[in-house]
Amino acid sequence: MKIMLIGANGQLGSDLAKVLHARGHDLVPLTHADIEVTDQASIEAALDAHHPDLVMNMAAFHKVDLCEDKVEQTFAVNTFGVRQLALACRARDAALLHMSSDYVFGGEQTRNTPYIETDTPAPINAYGVSKLAGEQFVRYVLEQYYIFRVTGLYGVAGSSGKGGNFVELMLRLAREGKDIRVVDDQRMTPTYTVDLAHQIAAVVETGQYGLYHATSQGDCTWYEFAAEIFRQSELSPNLDRAKTGDFGERATRPAYSVLENKALQQLGLDQMRPWQQALAGYLQERKSLYKE
Ligand SMILES: NC(=O)c1ccc[n+]([C@@H]2O[C@H](COP(=O)([O-])OP(=O)(O)OC[C@H]3O[C@@H](n4cnc5c(N)ncnc54)[C@H](OP(=O)(O)O)[C@@H]3O)[C@@H](O)[C@H]2O)c1
Repeated sequence: MKIMLIGANGQLGSDLAKVLHARGHDLVPLTHADIEVTDQASIEAALDAHHPDLVMNMAAFHKVDLCEDKVEQTFAVNTFGVRQLALACRARDAALLHMSSDYVFGGEQTRNTPYIETDTPAPINAYGVSKLAGEQFVRYVLEQYYIFRVTGLYGVAGSSGKGGNFVELMLRLAREGKDIRVVDDQRMTPTYTVDLAHQIAAVVETGQYGLYHATSQGDCTWYEFAAEIFRQSELSPNLDRAKTGDFGERATRPAYSVLENKALQQLGLDQMRPWQQALAGYLQERKSLYKE
């Protein structure tokens, strides 16, 4: 199977590229310089040059606060670009794997049980609406698709769209001796991109198309995640709880967006670790990279 990976140098994309290569897949890794998902001609040229059996789309506009102000750009990348990709794949009988987000949920204010794939989405910000609409295009244009909804990604490449990752931000602030305040009223599941890359590869290797939730096991608030980063790193900065809105954010964020990997469980494919173990894996990887 030949796989064309869009966004191959992004946070998840770079780990996917390594994992797919290591698992022996025939991979065409494309960066933003190679393909522009908002440009139909660019999409078609890439597909016609490489003839993939499967296209994996990591491209996104996902600075959640900026999405509120730049709605057209948000939809151009996350929705209409995805539709163009889906149409181009259908015309060439290629499958499409697309990444979505926990932020397609959030509208249920009193929710405290994990969302499964069959729950009705109710996004509460422009980013979430654009990702949900992107999903919907994939689902009605194509029969051969994988959609993965994921949360709170962190990997050594850092999110190129957001500039770094949460773990590195926390470690830097602690090392600079800063007082740190982190929101304690948004519950989600941090997810290590190496684990996610292996999970995605395992699903693709079965050929079981569909919609999947794929996060580490368990859940926490961002404050609890920060506390665990410092505990495992043996750092003790001044860490305080903050509330959503304390930093004047433009976008509303879900108070609860925990996903259950129900579809993966049903197929016997859920191999994600508890989030604390995954964090330990990440800290180990960065230690060997940065020789810390
Ligand atoms: N990060 C999270 O916490 C999180 C949570 C839930 C869901 N997700 C979803 O997971 C996916 C991967 O996230 P990530 O953190 O790995 O993202 P990322 O690091 O920002 O990577 C995105 C990649 O796509 C490329 N790209 C951006 N716009 C493009 C365009 N218009 N045309 C072609 N390529 C483009 C980027 O290149 P340049 O940087 O050079 O533009 C980069 O290589 C996204 O779909 C995101 O919505 C992420």
